[in-house]
Amino acid sequence: MKRRVTVKYFLGLMAMVSLVSCKTENKEAVADATAVNRDLVVDLGDTGIKIQPTMYGVFFEDINFAADGGLYAEMIKNRSFEFTLPKTGWIEPNSDRHSYNKESGIMSVVKYAGDAQNHNYARVKVNNDQGYVLINEGFRGMGVAKDAEYKLSLKAAKNSGNIQRIKFQLLDSLDNVLGETAIVPESDSWSTYESKFTASKSEMKAKVKITFEGTGVIDLDMISLFPTDTWMGREKGLRKDLVQLLYDLNPGFLRFPGGCIVEGRTLARRYQWKKTVGDIEEREILVNRWNTEFNHRPTPDYYQSFGLGFFEYFQLSEDLGAEPLPILGCGIACQFNTGELVPLDELDPYVQDALDLIEFANGDTNTAWGKVRADMGHPEPFNMKYIGIGNEQWGPEYIERYAIFEKALKAKYPEIIIVSGSGPFPDGDYFEYGWEQLKQMNAEIVDEHYYRPPQWFRDNATRYDSYDRNGPKVFAGEYAAQSVAIASPENENNWDCALSEAAFMTGLERNADLVYLTSYAPLMAHADAWQWTPDMIWFNNLESYGTANYQVQKMYSTNAGTDLLTITEDEKTLIGQDGLYASAVKDSTTGELIVKIINTESHPQALKLTASNGNLGNTGTVSTLQSNDLQVVNSFESPDKISPKESTLAVSNGMVEVTAEPYSMNVIKIKIL
Ligand code: AHR
Repeated sequence: MKRRVTVKYFLGLMAMVSLVSCKTENKEAVADATAVNRDLVVDLGDTGIKIQPTMYGVFFEDINFAADGGLYAEMIKNRSFEFTLPKTGWIEPNSDRHSYNKESGIMSVVKYAGDAQNHNYARVKVNNDQGYVLINEGFRGMGVAKDAEYKLSLKAAKNSGNIQRIKFQLLDSLDNVLGETAIVPESDSWSTYESKFTASKSEMKAKVKITFEGTGVIDLDMISLFPTDTWMGREKGLRKDLVQLLYDLNPGFLRFPGGCIVEGRTLARRYQWKKTVGDIEEREILVNRWNTEFNHRPTPDYYQSFGLGFFEYFQLSEDLGAEPLPILGCGIACQFNTGELVPLDELDPYVQDALDLIEFANGDTNTAWGKVRADMGHPEPFNMKYIGIGNEQWGPEYIERYAIFEKALKAKYPEIIIVSGSGPFPDGDYFEYGWEQLKQMNAEIVDEHYYRPPQWFRDNATRYDSYDRNGPKVFAGEYAAQSVAIASPENENNWDCALSEAAFMTGLERNADLVYLTSYAPLMAHADAWQWTPDMIWFNNLESYGTANYQVQKMYSTNAGTDLLTITEDEKTLIGQDGLYASAVKDSTTGELIVKIINTESHPQALKLTASNGNLGNTGTVSTLQSNDLQVVNSFESPDKISPKESTLAVSNGMVEVTAEPYSMNVIKIKIL
């Protein structure tokens, strides 16, 4: 059954979007001889159109080991023995499970009495001093950095006999010890033990070896290991390098927790935010929906510990200076999978979850959910302004459920802006139907998704020029150029894709009166544990880098500006004529003109840029992303192949002369006098 559903999802995507490979030929750039002179004019007059502070944001989903094994810095996989196969991740190298009493020892998994959300713990029976050990393999190993400090914590309760000491060692792939510590269990009731130690060497694929001294039976749970150097130094926090990459984007919003993960393959496995807040130990583990979704990339050890839960997402949004944008399920399981529906007259608990989320984020500390937030250490409200209802839902089933949510949310929280969805595709029946209905309902912001070939992005820079200005605003909530086909494992984060997205994004910016939020998707992928490609940020257990697509996003998000301007050639908007795309904004805080120019052609383009309705200062800068090779990618070995190069520009008699190199994205900045 599982297999059938999986195939259905994949084939569904492949067939319905009928993507064809549409790679641009990797033409070698032609020399200067073919450069053409083009006169561009920026009108510095006020258009009255603001660039929304939310314009360029990030979309986070726990796909590709982005949370557990990624952003969430826990190094022990299955720390509380809750996976469906509860010993997953744990190895007993010298135990023979056919001779319980004879061998050195054995670990079994025991259920807690009662209805705790942390269901299991481990019972370790050590029979002799022959060296019973337990090993945790981590998330495709554990990343350990030389001289870095690690904090171990666990719960233990002595059951019988006398286990006197438990030793914890970090081992490299050859079993050399990289660091060790020990705890002395003292109590026969559950107690927490903690210890710190430092690693002597770096290792990408370390593991933890646990050795027991003494004989007897001991119970263990929540065996956890974190680097102490996390983002903002938070205990049991987030991986610093990964958050830094997000921080550097200066994102306007953080959308979480997905994506399809919101919906679940079945309703029972949907994302339920209430189960992700409060005491970490009590956050009930759930199988990750991407676990076995794709037959070509199965990751059966993919679960959600929810150590990165809704509180942490709100906190991260705050750290990034980004508006939190949570997306909630609307009573429909993923329609590519089961499409299970909650009957309309049974939707109340789902609607209540949405109402309670607003109370959790914004409510006074004397409200029930505001108190939960305060007890977690954040009495101040998170000032959440947006909520999304449904991810990639379609058809009347979505619209009738959305209407129920909208009515209840607006009745209690009229100020909250609701994001609705137009389904998984950027055109076709689902899309048309969704938009038509949502327009009639006066929906505020509609989410659109497009995973398409690079050519589509270059051809669609005008997509929003003709949208109805009296209808809902647009959230370009998930997009990425696919070099081969949607979610193909062969897709690359190459320059062809990134450059095409850059060209397309001039169209997003030019339509800033309509397009209020945009985000590339998916955001992150573990090099050894991904399911979906392309992705904006790649990481392994120690390193991370931004792809060419990341660099394009960063060029836009760190040069977003505040006010839209127009830029033309012969009074025409630049939408790809001879491969030239452009948009212009003013940053009223710095008093700068910011022009983005993308050349998708293989020849250079000599540009003369002048201004009307205002004057330009004498100098400026240009930052350029460029490669003559459209197939080039950033990588762990060469993370900066596609990265900005900056140079100065002279403005002479109000005119800037600049060459847009072949296959280049250029951001020009000049003071406005
Ligand atoms: O970004 C990966 C997936 O693509 C998202 O979960 C889903 O919304 C879309 O189909």
